[in-house]
Amino acid sequence: YSLKHHNTFGVEVSAKYFAEVNSLDQLTQILRNTSVRKFKLLFLGGGSNVLFTQDFDGVVLQLNLKGISEKILNDNEVLVTSQAGENWHEFVQYCLNKNYGGLENLSLIPGNVGTSPMQNIGAYGTEIKDTFVRCKVLNLDTLEVEEFDHNKCNFGYRESIFKREGKGKYVILDVTFKLTRKNHAIKTEYGAIKSELENLGIHNPTIQDISRAVINIRQSKLPDPKIIGNAGSFFKNPSIPMDQFLELQKTYAEMPHYPNGDLVKVPAGWLIEQCGWKGKQIGNVASHELQSLVIVNKTGLASGKEIFDFSTMIIESVNEKFGIDLEREVNII
Ligand code: EPU
Repeated sequence: YSLKHHNTFGVEVSAKYFAEVNSLDQLTQILRNTSVRKFKLLFLGGGSNVLFTQDFDGVVLQLNLKGISEKILNDNEVLVTSQAGENWHEFVQYCLNKNYGGLENLSLIPGNVGTSPMQNIGAYGTEIKDTFVRCKVLNLDTLEVEEFDHNKCNFGYRESIFKREGKGKYVILDVTFKLTRKNHAIKTEYGAIKSELENLGIHNPTIQDISRAVINIRQSKLPDPKIIGNAGSFFKNPSIPMDQFLELQKTYAEMPHYPNGDLVKVPAGWLIEQCGWKGKQIGNVASHELQSLVIVNKTGLASGKEIFDFSTMIIESVNEKFGIDLEREVNII
């Protein structure tokens, strides 16, 4: 079964078996089947954060659970629950149409709601951990439904329990967020949002204005995976010790940086650009010309292995020039 249309890199790989799952009942039925359980399992949402480097010798289950429900808590707060298979951006737009605030800075992020807690998706000053309340998961050992509250998810920068101890043990079924109904916390600290609002001539932005600004910014520099295969930022932004930063700053005075506890966060995109990779193409793969942190399937013909090897070359050259190890953010399969 071809997975080309199930990964946003558009890599041509195949799975031994593939099934779409539309309900929890269907999912548990499939998982009770002992002949299914002999195989490796892979759960796919939107396929927007994976890189397949080889064919998958097992069963791929595409989670299509749909539906959104809500519960008004009080004058100002509402709990909104989305099933895992809802498209993330459509879910954000649904909330904005109801004037529910909290997710607007996360507009236009590719993928589905069910995978959003995995890497604690974040952009433009917000992460889902800021509004996340709980998610329902299916435990793959017991086939019981469990609830994970905020604490249990152990969120970090592009991290959660689902990428660490819980890896491969749970399927996320739905996610609940606590959003605001009128006293919205408008987040405009991120420089790019401020300047985009200025461009638009907006002085007192609504949550819908913030969403519009974020959409404009993303569209201006991030490639649309429907047109050119990619998985967003390929690497995490590294944090380095203060000593190392101060030493590097002697040579690279203009190095952008943000405080991160005892550490200093440095944008990977800047490091990669400094190494000469921005817009550079090797074979079918390139670093995006407007955002070097994004690796693209430039010709549409790249293999996963080719993309992976390209990312290794970037890691090596950043390490050589700056002594910083970049960590891949995309899940390699
Ligand atoms: N930069 C360069 N050259 C580049 C790219 C970036 O010098 O080619 C510099 C920029 O000038 C800026 C800094 O790096 O000073 C930060 O760039 P940007 O605002 O584009 O954000 P980022 O740190 O590269 C992160 C997230 C994005 C998210 C944006 C906005 C990670 C790994 N990536 O990118 O998330 O949209 O911030 O908040 O944290 C994603 O995860 O797929 C993703 C797109």
